[in-house]
Amino acid sequence: MSTIFPKWMNHFPTASAFGGAMALCTAVGVVWYYFTPKFWEVGYMPTQPGSGFPHHIHVGKLGLDCRYCHTQVENSAEANVPNVATCIGCHAENRVRDDIVPPARIQFVRDAYAADESIQWRRIHKLPDFVRNFPHNVHVDAGVSCYSCHGMIGRMPVVHQQEPISMGWCLDCHRDPTPHLVPKDKVTDLFWVEEQLAAAGNGPTQRSPGGEALLSELQKKPLHLLPENCGACHY
Ligand code: HEC
Ligand code: HEC
Ligand code: HEC
Ligand code: HEC
Ligand code: HEC
Repeated sequence: MSTIFPKWMNHFPTASAFGGAMALCTAVGVVWYYFTPKFWEVGYMPTQPGSGFPHHIHVGKLGLDCRYCHTQVENSAEANVPNVATCIGCHAENRVRDDIVPPARIQFVRDAYAADESIQWRRIHKLPDFVRNFPHNVHVDAGVSCYSCHGMIGRMPVVHQQEPISMGWCLDCHRDPTPHLVPKDKVTDLFWVEEQLAAAGNGPTQRSPGGEALLSELQKKPLHLLPENCGACHY
């Protein structure tokens, strides 16, 4: 036997067991990292019904304010997407000229309106149910721009998820919100915010000019809270 199997083969079972364990660890690590929501949710961009809704045209080119459609962002803990009637205000027949918006591209909106149905927009940003408390309006009221959490919507032909929306992401900002605070009346002016943050130094070190002053204003408010305790966001 010893001539058929060289002596080093005695280590084979140990070596293969070790190798197997390593491979398993690597596989677990890879799955852990890449399949964790933090990784795969960023960039999430589902196919929307019809021709979709081009924010870059309505916000970037036409200059519509977010609140024209997302009417509840300042009043409600949950943001809202507009109903079809909001679109029909401009896209009913004989409103926006056919040579500007070809009827075929807007037919899905008119069909939904005629059938009294809502358009089934696919939701992009969604917190898991065990996150009990994310008061959307409180953030907007505090002077956190849509830009900080949703990215440059005014340039997006199709909305995608820009930020990880993980627990670490929430806590990072709660520990130091100053880079993200802007004057309340600029919250929906994404082009202004982008310009200011870029001027203050682009990239991860972006600081909002005057962020410290805005934070101290915020801290004077009676109910000011930047929670890091579990119960504030979870049951
Ligand atoms: C003319 C109406 C209109 C205006 C103005 C508008 N939106 Fe929207 N928005 C929509 C519609 C319709 C959807 C759903 C379709 C989609 O997700 O693309 C949407 C979706 C979104 C979403 C994704 C929601 C999700 O599913 O997670 C975000 C974020 C958003 N809008 C932010 C903004 C911001 C920020 C502004 C202002 C800079 C803005 N919108 C202006 C109509 C509008
Ligand atoms: C305030 C008026 C207004 C509202 C409200 C509005 N739109 Fe528009 N929309 C326009 C105009 C104007 C254009 C053409 C802009 C251009 O190309 O110059 C347009 C273009 C479009 C296009 C064509 C894009 C392309 O590829 O040519 C689509 C699709 C569209 N809108 C969908 C919607 C939907 C869906 C809603 C409701 C959530 C909506 N619009 C609300 C004014 C509006
Ligand atoms: C502090 C971060 C933050 C800011 C600031 C913020 N959002 Fe959001 N937004 C979120 C998160 C997180 C969600 C998902 C919430 C959930 O699942 O309950 C969301 C959800 C939404 C939705 C989807 C609502 C739905 O029912 O489909 C829209 C639309 C939206 N935001 C628009 C806006 C607009 C417009 C602004 C600026 C006025 C804004 N957001 C500012 C973090 C933010
Ligand atoms: C970019 C900055 C930023 C991000 C990201 C952010 N927050 Fe906040 N959050 C704030 C600020 C600023 C306040 C303080 C608002 C105030 O007190 O006026 C706040 C307050 C809160 C409060 C207390 C509100 C109250 O008055 O009861 C809760 C709860 C909260 N955030 C949850 C979350 C959760 C959950 C996430 C992640 C999904 C998140 N936040 C992400 C900036 C942020
Ligand atoms: C500012 C809000 C906030 C606070 C405070 C907070 N969490 Fe979270 N937590 C979140 C959000 C948002 C998620 C969802 C993350 C995701 O979808 O990836 C989460 C997810 C989790 C998860 C699921 C695993 C994961 O990482 O996705 C656990 C467990 C958890 N939190 C425990 C805690 C504990 C324990 C505390 C207190 C030390 C705490 N959280 C405080 C917002 C918060």
